[in-house]
Amino acid sequence: MILSAMGAEDEKRLAAEAAAELVEEGMTVGLGTGSTVAYLLPALAARSLTLRCVATSVATEVQARALGLPVEPFDGIARLDIAIDGADQIAPDGWIVKGGGAAHTREKVVAASSDRFVVIASSDKLVEAIAPPIPLELLSYGLDATLARLGEVALRDVPASPDGGVIADYLGPVDDPAQAAAWLSATAGVVDHGLFAPELTSDVLVGRGDRVDRLAL
Ligand code: 5RP
Repeated sequence: MILSAMGAEDEKRLAAEAAAELVEEGMTVGLGTGSTVAYLLPALAARSLTLRCVATSVATEVQARALGLPVEPFDGIARLDIAIDGADQIAPDGWIVKGGGAAHTREKVVAASSDRFVVIASSDKLVEAIAPPIPLELLSYGLDATLARLGEVALRDVPASPDGGVIADYLGPVDDPAQAAAWLSATAGVVDHGLFAPELTSDVLVGRGDRVDRLAL
């Protein structure tokens, strides 16, 4: 089924609003990045909770602050109660691809630091199997040698990450996401990649028409 652009926006908003309800007074909260998270922030701000938030991108930080959500650097908090973020691909086995907005390295740090990592998405993000492109963040040091090791890879025409990383996409086959993730993680020069293992995610909330489905992982 092809989802109209308007339908997808409504589904993102519904999933984001449902996720905002999972946040409780006093929590430490990781804020993801992207157009689905852009719906989360006003829904969260509207709840008027006292929270401590960290952001995975400058864009999220700016929007969150403008809405009155307090954002602090992610260096004085050892553990987050919850993090909420979007996704580019969600497979039935729980593997997720993130990084369409180039924030995957920080997003993975935040997801891995959270007691509960909630993924929010419109139904067009559900896929039968993970497929390329897989977002990458690469060290600029030795970049050409890293690109040669990776083989099928394309540099993305976007600014460097806030941590100075070069953004690229791996375009080779991803028949086995676990194997691909292990190989990318073990490749020197790769800071991180956009494959998120099923163990990272606690909940997946998907907007479907006018309802929100919670996927069993
Ligand atoms: C940013 C991401 C986003 O969460 C992902 O690309 C989904 O974006 P959107 O909500 O705009 O569809 O991983 O790095």
